[in-house]
Amino acid sequence: MRTIFREGTRVKLIDQTRLPGEVALVECASVDSLCAAILAMRIRGAPALGVAGAYGVALAAEEGPAEWGSLSEHVTGAAERLRRTRPTAVNLSWGVARAMALVVNNAGRDVDELRRQLWTFADALADRDVEINRQIGSHGAPLLADGARVLTHCNAGALATVDWGTALGVVRTAARQGKRLHIYVDETRPFLQGSRLTAWELEQEGVPYSVITDNMAGHLMARGEIDLCIVGADRIAACGDVANKIGTYTVAVLARVHGLPFYVAAPVSTIDLAIETGGDIPIEERSPEEVLTFAGVRVAPAGARARHPAFDITPAEYVTGIITEMGIAGAPFDESLAAAVAASRAGDG
Ligand code: MRU
Repeated sequence: MRTIFREGTRVKLIDQTRLPGEVALVECASVDSLCAAILAMRIRGAPALGVAGAYGVALAAEEGPAEWGSLSEHVTGAAERLRRTRPTAVNLSWGVARAMALVVNNAGRDVDELRRQLWTFADALADRDVEINRQIGSHGAPLLADGARVLTHCNAGALATVDWGTALGVVRTAARQGKRLHIYVDETRPFLQGSRLTAWELEQEGVPYSVITDNMAGHLMARGEIDLCIVGADRIAACGDVANKIGTYTVAVLARVHGLPFYVAAPVSTIDLAIETGGDIPIEERSPEEVLTFAGVRVAPAGARARHPAFDITPAEYVTGIITEMGIAGAPFDESLAAAVAASRAGDG
């Protein structure tokens, strides 16, 4: 089953807040219900958010007035609300912008026809996401030797995309090639994307894994029990600095100290050439309550304060390579990433 799909003019999502306990769907019949689902992290992960953004514009056009001027105003406002829900993952604003280009290009034309085009466009973006992930998997799988012990952080799997996954897509591809792997799954405090979602996906796939708390990675690396790290990304600056789930930077520094490769797997749509360095990437701050609780149970004294930056920046110097659908980009990243973006645009054109 796909993470996000539509039935008629309704968008359906696997509710990731209910996993691993149950696989339940949420139905969004309005752009506001989709924004609420994104804010609550019922759907999450950069590529999945990109597709959600495009479906959100289609929902806005569907529910908007039939008169062109008012419809355009309604959709533009909805696009802004969608973009603001999760500011770090550039794929979200990318998906919204791609759909909005269709709105602009159809200015003054038949509104029903625009609605049809938006739904079809979002469906195509979803299909393309799956193809891209499979290409990332094919490029990345040779990096995993038979017997490799791989550390991953957060969830960059099928659930974070439409299907297959980026970092976990590489693992999935290598495992289906018959390689014997063992995956160390960082729990990923505070939202537990690792223990709840990545472990669930590996369980389904039948790939051996061990969940570890985030503070165990250094110990295992020091004992020679990890061979390489592979993670996803929410935004990659032109110089190769990578924004990903909080804690990724720690893993990258530890990997460097222990001489281990540190790979990032992400579609070209995650590369933001308009942002030169990681320092300019907006970092989402989420509610401190998510830090003060564990799986919904409060674990800090009443009155405790907390910080909750949801992402961090891994400087390009710690990144061994960035696996995209166009191949593996290496240093100097300013050149290799620009080339990947150019090649992808040439393919689109
Ligand atoms: O806050 P989340 O769960 O949306 O964060 C997700 C991540 O950081 C993923 O690693 C990233 O989006 C890549 S998903 C293929």
